[in-house]
Amino acid sequence: MVRLLASRPLRALPADEPRRGAGRLMLRSAFLALALMAGAAVAQTSNPADAPGGEDPSVLPAGNGQEEVFYACTACHSTAIIRRSAFPRAQWDGLMDWMTEKHGMNPLEGEERKLIVDYLAQHFGPRTAPARGRNPFLN
Ligand code: HEC
Repeated sequence: MVRLLASRPLRALPADEPRRGAGRLMLRSAFLALALMAGAAVAQTSNPADAPGGEDPSVLPAGNGQEEVFYACTACHSTAIIRRSAFPRAQWDGLMDWMTEKHGMNPLEGEERKLIVDYLAQHFGPRTAPARGRNPFLN
């Protein structure tokens, strides 16, 4: 009994402690790094409703350019991101370049661009209705 106790190196415990602590710390920072990477991966579409897919053109208001906008704009995100926007025409026009330069959208030129920007400006222009009169669930 005495031999058993004596054979157990008493100093082993304190010596082990820091190593165990370091291991836990490394695990924790690895987890943190993973969490950060996962966060970065979803940052592009932080809102699940913004993810592309599962829609058809009828989610956009009917009108000239409805289909063109739908097919030009839903490869990377849903129409939700468009439907909640309200920009004057010049800003929509600028957004087309931003989407091309920053996010690799195929450049929109000529008639197609005009059709698309006109549609966006007409249906998603600055809102003039007073905020209190609006149904927040429709926008
Ligand atoms: C090649 C991919 C791609 C295509 C195609 C694309 N977009 Fe985008 N768009 C993005 C990305 C990426 C973002 C940033 C997403 C975010 O912030 O969550 C974005 C953001 C937006 C925003 C939000 C801008 C803001 O600052 O509020 C609007 C509005 C928008 N897009 C409209 C459009 C319209 C309209 C079209 C079609 C003409 C289009 N997008 C086509 C990639 C694309």
